[in-house]
Amino acid sequence: MGGALVVYESMFGNTRAVAEAVATGMARVAPGDAVDVIEVGTAPALAAVDADLLVIGAPTHAFGLSRPTTRSDAAARTGTGVLSTTIGVREWLEHAGAPAALPADGATPARRGLPAAVFDTRVLRRNLPGHAADAIARRLRQLGLSLVTEPATFTVDGYTGPLLPGELDRARAWGEYLATLLRALPLLPEDAGATGARGRTETPGTGRSAPRTGRPASGTGPSAPGSPR
Ligand SMILES: Cc1cc2nc3c(=O)[nH]c(=O)nc-3n(C[C@H](O)[C@H](O)[C@H](O)COP(=O)(O)O)c2cc1C
Repeated sequence: MGGALVVYESMFGNTRAVAEAVATGMARVAPGDAVDVIEVGTAPALAAVDADLLVIGAPTHAFGLSRPTTRSDAAARTGTGVLSTTIGVREWLEHAGAPAALPADGATPARRGLPAAVFDTRVLRRNLPGHAADAIARRLRQLGLSLVTEPATFTVDGYTGPLLPGELDRARAWGEYLATLLRALPLLPEDAGATGARGRTETPGTGRSAPRTGRPASGTGPSAPGSPR
């Protein structure tokens, strides 16, 4: 695996903790490769991303990606301040411009077809619709990136967290899976995960979402942790 960049947005630290755990899992599989974790407000523009895999994570706000109003709402819930104070993933992706902003020939570091994976965090509540990761996935496809697997979700207890027990372990396992998948990429059809990226998996009996990771469509690559849909 070459280098990976994990870009996260986080208000209370839960999504950041998942991002760091994903990076830890990736480094376990590919210890010699760089895995950088960066808050979205200080991340390079998408077109300038120079990595073999881009991972993006964000908290679910109001059924999707945060907006300035929901981030203000989050800030009002804590006396200690929030982590992402400037922009969210929504704005970062909006600034990425039109799909043509990413050329196919790699004239800039990021290119159309750049492998990507997305995740979100959300609260433990049954039947609450909407996932930030689905919005990220849609936008990345519009921009021409290739999703290598289904969006993943990690669950927090209440708006400010903490993450439910076991979620950081799942995040590390997902990171290991991503690194393994990236190594197998030449074997996989383009945008393999995107073919199955709709819907989500519930862990039976818990009401908790399992990582919405799926198998590559070809079945030639590594298996995702958790239950395939
Ligand atoms: C303004 C606001 C709106 C939210 N809306 C949703 C929602 O629609 N669905 C959901 O599952 N969680 C929702 N949440 C909970 C967040 O997903 C939760 O705060 C987040 O996962 C915590 O991650 P963070 O610490 O990285 O910010 C909301 C939180 C805030 C502050």
